[in-house]
Amino acid sequence: MGKFIIRGGRQLEGDISINGAKNSVLPVLAATVLTDKECVIHNVPEITDVRIMIEILVRLGAKVWIEREPDGSQNIITVKADALKTAAVPESLMSQMRSSIFLMGPLLGRLGVAKISQPGGCSIGPRPINLHLDGLSALGMDCETGATEIVGRAPKLRGNEVRLAFPSVGATENIMMAAVLAEGETTLKNPAREPEIVDLQGFLNAMGANVKGAGTDEIRIEGVTRLHGYEEAVIPDRIEAGTFMAAATMTGGDVTLKKVRPDHLEAVISKLKQVGAAIDISGSTVRVRGPIRPGSFTLVTGAYPGFPTDMQPQMVTLAAVAEGVSTVEEGVFKNRFAHVDDLNRLGADIKLEGSRAVVRGANRLQGGITEARDLRNGAALVLAGLVADGETTVQSTEHIDRGYERLELRLRSLGADVKRAWATNREIPKAQNQ
Ligand code: EPZ
Repeated sequence: MGKFIIRGGRQLEGDISINGAKNSVLPVLAATVLTDKECVIHNVPEITDVRIMIEILVRLGAKVWIEREPDGSQNIITVKADALKTAAVPESLMSQMRSSIFLMGPLLGRLGVAKISQPGGCSIGPRPINLHLDGLSALGMDCETGATEIVGRAPKLRGNEVRLAFPSVGATENIMMAAVLAEGETTLKNPAREPEIVDLQGFLNAMGANVKGAGTDEIRIEGVTRLHGYEEAVIPDRIEAGTFMAAATMTGGDVTLKKVRPDHLEAVISKLKQVGAAIDISGSTVRVRGPIRPGSFTLVTGAYPGFPTDMQPQMVTLAAVAEGVSTVEEGVFKNRFAHVDDLNRLGADIKLEGSRAVVRGANRLQGGITEARDLRNGAALVLAGLVADGETTVQSTEHIDRGYERLELRLRSLGADVKRAWATNREIPKAQNQ
């Protein structure tokens, strides 16, 4: 179990290049099983969730190559799923990453069968999959649900009209990927509209699919008979960008982010401006200068283009040192305030009222020992360490490594005093090959 040791009080300054989007790479990797041809994906960060998805693809029988981009920045992943040997997603891997449920769609489309384990809940709440199963059933999947396993069968998927009760990101992706090889047209109403959905549409169409309307309130998919390979790059990670922007705002720093899609960050940019950050946008470059002390704010997280739930923990940390009382309402997940106890132990004054956190900004936080419980909650604790007096430890960095590539190195490149330590030297991984 690794830990970050952070000495607070530094203003972040300098330039940073944003990595490829984790929540785009994962469904795009799942979609590679839809074809037996070679798929080349650029701009892929070195993060655990990608490694888990690659392991799943290999266990399904796909060949996967990983190499560094010529500029050494990230990875190029090549997948060739020409000899799939099973339609069963290994339980041990599924339990590590619940979002691998969206492999059902591609497996049904390619093999006519998909076997997954029951995804349990996780630290941000129950992770039901009813919208996935209902949507795939509408396309002709027969579903057998056992105590631990779910088996979906569809000799031939047929296009249909599907309306999602909630714009679930994963369910939207699952249904899109199942529909591209189905017979006839599928109309998906009330889909998720996140940029990652638009990116997936781009990748599916690069494979020869016929998908239109991603990013709007209706996606139309005309089934085709076969798909081919491609070479494409994923979009930048808007949540990684938002995390660094919040860090610059909280520390009163001056950080220039490169390779950003500012149009994917409108809700975050307007909120950070509201609390006092000066934000200058020029193409894919965004410069963020933080105020002496951020002002208080109210926010409610919601489906895109609303304020992203994946930035909620980071904003609670910002509120903890803001001037005045802020309220942060979590509108997407049932239980996404695991960071509050740790922040209060560092001197924050946060009260939970149902799905709302009421945060009375403190002048300073005091360093202390904290524990990451999931990816974004861990990021929020690291940000707290950047502004707390003295030394803060964030334990269980494996949660943070799921979605941020070497966060300690990237923050150090901006002047932060962060180092990674290991509870025991037994756990120090063999030197990474990059
Ligand atoms: C995706 O998760 C992201 N993960 C999450 O990012 C993100 O927080 C979430 O979308 C919301 O934006 C990936 O893309 C890999 P949902 P997903 O289905 O697809 C309920 C991160 O930190 N729901 O949109 O699992 C569900 O319980 C991660 O990068 C059902 O009720 O999210 C939740 O309350 C965390 N039934 C809400 O919808 C279903 O069948 C949103 O879930 C499916 C979902």
